[in-house]
Amino acid sequence: MANNWQPNSWRNKPIIQVPEYPDPAALSAVEERLASYPPLVFAGEARALKAHLAEVSKGNAFLLQGGDCAESFAEHGADNIRDFFRVFLQMSVVLTYAAAKPIVKVGRIAGQFAKPRSSDNETQGDVVLPSYRGDIINGSEFTPESRIPDPERQIMAYRQSAATLNLLRALAQGGYANLEHVQQWTLDFVRDSPQMERYANLADRLGETLRFMKAIGFDAENHQRLRETEMYTCHESLLLGYEEAMTRVDSTSGDYYATSGHMVWIGDRTRQPDHAHVEFCRGIKNPIGFKCGPSMTPDGMLELIDILNPSNEAGRITLIARFGHEKVGDHLPELIRAIEREGKSVVWSCDPMHGNTISAGGYKTRPFDYILKEVQNFFAIHKAEGTYAGGVHFEMTGKDVTECTGGARAVTEEDLGSRYHTHCDPRLNASQSLELAFLLAELLQENRDVSDEKISVSA
Ligand code: PEP
Ligand code: CO
Repeated sequence: MANNWQPNSWRNKPIIQVPEYPDPAALSAVEERLASYPPLVFAGEARALKAHLAEVSKGNAFLLQGGDCAESFAEHGADNIRDFFRVFLQMSVVLTYAAAKPIVKVGRIAGQFAKPRSSDNETQGDVVLPSYRGDIINGSEFTPESRIPDPERQIMAYRQSAATLNLLRALAQGGYANLEHVQQWTLDFVRDSPQMERYANLADRLGETLRFMKAIGFDAENHQRLRETEMYTCHESLLLGYEEAMTRVDSTSGDYYATSGHMVWIGDRTRQPDHAHVEFCRGIKNPIGFKCGPSMTPDGMLELIDILNPSNEAGRITLIARFGHEKVGDHLPELIRAIEREGKSVVWSCDPMHGNTISAGGYKTRPFDYILKEVQNFFAIHKAEGTYAGGVHFEMTGKDVTECTGGARAVTEEDLGSRYHTHCDPRLNASQSLELAFLLAELLQENRDVSDEKISVSA
């Protein structure tokens, strides 16, 4: 176990981005209740995900991570979960085909509730109120009552996460994800789009392959891998009282695991090496990510890796690069070189969302072209450095929202107001998500051609 670490040792460290609860006794009572509740995920599942991420770090698999910026109580429902799951599956099929590698699917879901904010307060007209910090903490409505942190919300978030996970497990294992149904995962509102046509073509090809496999004796009835999929969950490890309450000793290994989700990450604002969030994460054995924004230096990154992964275990650390399409070229190469020089085992993932937020027509938005450009630059840089671009991290939904501009069925700045539903940052809608998957597939395909060439040259 990590030196002097306890699930509560973060409480002795400096901390930022914490809500001020008016009634500390009520908060402690809620944390005690949570600590007595069943875990949401199991240590064995987190270990399995870590093993899959270890394969990603070696270039043998690809990570697809995505979901809401912030889950909300108001939008909790079966349709939203199913639509997200469905577009995620579609993306994963597109990417599997292109990469010819397993896709490790990790949803920002079933626990992604707490948000770091750039300002403690929000001003509208001459009214100043505490910022909204995610439904697990306070309400988004701009009223003094709603902005008061309420510990009971943690119980609601726990229960919503449990219900969401229950449906996700059923969708993943109960037949919905059966590859023989790949043609049926069609979302009504993308049915007539160019992406859907491409998807239908790919689904037809897959259908043919499956028929061939069936003829030689491999079908979904007798092969679980064709019938089921693995879907993992992740969220930002931000509200540490909640995380501590959900941290349990795994009876098989004796190690501590966060059971609030399979993987957690440390945000770009809370990654100070001597602060509480890093302290908490160093002691849990789950796979951990941390965001690398423009203020990350090679030494700062290596310091964090030494604290969080002193034994250099493969699959433990995912570096989530989020520089913005213009800045990624200024920062990423030196970070990659430091990792290579020090021989650190990491997954390199690209978050093309958080460095590309602009404001237009009174809305926070992200142009599709900027998002794509950052992904393309990320791949080009890895290619130039001879390293593996291992994954992507998107804010997305299965719904037909208008939050990010652009895409083949272009959302314009004027459209933003019509279906802008996010509780925090703008998300790709289903059609934009699938379009991005196809564009990403082209990059993966190119990489595959390069590695195939290498193999044939050396063979
Ligand atoms: C997020 O992932 O929603 C987020 C707040 O990211 P970052 O910490 O990179 O700003
Ligand atoms: Co966000």
